[in-house]
Amino acid sequence: MSREESVLISFKGVTKSYGSIVALNDVSFDIKKGEFVFITGASGAGKTTILKLILAELIPTKGEVRVDNLDIAGISDKTMPSYRQKIGTIFQDFKVLSERTVYENVAVALAVIGLPETEWEERVEHVLKLVGLAKQADQFPSQLSGGELQRVSLARALSVNPKIVLADEPTGNLDWETSEILMELLEKINKEGKTIIMATHNVEILKKYKKRIIHVSDGKLSYNEKTEEK
Ligand SMILES: Nc1ncnc2c1ncn2[C@@H]1O[C@H](COP(=O)(O)OP(=O)(O)OP(=O)(O)O)[C@@H](O)[C@H]1O
Ligand SMILES: [Mg+2]
Repeated sequence: MSREESVLISFKGVTKSYGSIVALNDVSFDIKKGEFVFITGASGAGKTTILKLILAELIPTKGEVRVDNLDIAGISDKTMPSYRQKIGTIFQDFKVLSERTVYENVAVALAVIGLPETEWEERVEHVLKLVGLAKQADQFPSQLSGGELQRVSLARALSVNPKIVLADEPTGNLDWETSEILMELLEKINKEGKTIIMATHNVEILKKYKKRIIHVSDGKLSYNEKTEEK
């Protein structure tokens, strides 16, 4: 595989401003297929902005973001749903629907992509088993712990079989033990081929799970290097 082919995400001279606020300032980096990368930096540094650009929720003010050989600025409303299907997202606050069961929370994602209902059960059961929640399928979010809620959210993200998983401070509301369970799961799905980009402040996680770190500081890349493997 040539270098070009293995690059999945590329930022070239990307600046993103919100009005007069420059959130990202001339940032360039590549992420290869199958990588697991941490994005670190202080609050307000620009981490979420990077993730939103990858998701094509935002487009650059200047420069170019390419994902899977596509310039995200050129995605039309019509092709956006199929673009979004390449990417699963999880967040600090889980974003599960409180009135729906675990099963339904995952099935909702399949409804959104228009998968025929006859295929839902197999898909949902597969991802719930993957995250260790097969037995909780009929429970409601109020009956689950934070770690379980985050795994529901991961199951939902994985259900559409994305190439990329974006995680924005996914352990922010979890204790250490629960965070480790989530991290082990992310490592497992990474080994199975998903590219993972995770924004985090958690120094303990950075120390234990040694991955390439892209560090942003005031909208600039200040560090972009792979730490030594365990
Ligand atoms: N919608 C918006 N409108 C205006 N300014 C914004 C908006 N979103 C983000 N910003 C600003 O852009 C900068 C980068 O924000 P971003 O959310 O990317 O930071 P972050 O690194 O994710 O921070 P945190 O660790 O607190 O989540 C900040 O100065 C923020 O206030
Ligand atoms: Mg953020």
